[in-house]
Amino acid sequence: IYRAAIFDLDGVLADTARLHLKAWHQLAQELKRPWAEDTGERLKGLERMASLEVILGEESDRFSEKEKIDLASRKNSYYQKLIRSLSPKDLLPGAGELLAWLNEKQIPIALASASKNAQAVLQALEISHYFSTIADPEQSAPKPCPDIFLAAAQGLQVEPELCVAFEDAAAGVAAIKAAKGMTAVGVGSENSLRKADFIVGSLSEFVPKDFFLSAIHAAS
Ligand code: G6P
Ligand code: MG
Repeated sequence: IYRAAIFDLDGVLADTARLHLKAWHQLAQELKRPWAEDTGERLKGLERMASLEVILGEESDRFSEKEKIDLASRKNSYYQKLIRSLSPKDLLPGAGELLAWLNEKQIPIALASASKNAQAVLQALEISHYFSTIADPEQSAPKPCPDIFLAAAQGLQVEPELCVAFEDAAAGVAAIKAAKGMTAVGVGSENSLRKADFIVGSLSEFVPKDFFLSAIHAAS
């Protein structure tokens, strides 16, 4: 029985993983970098500069640090243009319902997203009010390090082993599995989620009452 929920954002709650990929794909094309079949999957969950390294591949050495920062901000400007039109209809299936259920049962909810655009996305989706804690990606080592999930649990003041965390990316599942006994739910159908404790096709398949002890129930 778990006492708190921690969510990744892009590809778990928000239909934005495809927008990150679209923006990276545009940059890759401009740089004439190849886009392999698994590039999209490899980019998921990686923070911005680590993603850029995947795009640059063996040509990474040809760019200075300054040029890399400029390329990463170019991708970010493409992404920010794409998220301007986000609205609650861009919540992924089951996300709104699950957040509302947890909220109703007074089960605390945290966000553990690597994205520096996370707050803007939460606002556009109108779900900011559900989160007691938003772990700051600037203060945590990037996934697959467990730091951001541990920071989220700490923010909620719930032991990691009493938290369930949701991820759509291999790097994210690895981060959760390294987070002191935290339980990982993989969201999606990718092979890359195999290391998760549970896998669901979408959040609408997840049955929260099988996992969480309501704070109301616990107190009575
Ligand atoms: C999330 C996404 C990644 C993205 C990263 C950084 O983890 O899954 O695709 O690269 O956030 O996002 P940002 O908005 O800060 O560039
Ligand atoms: Mg994700």
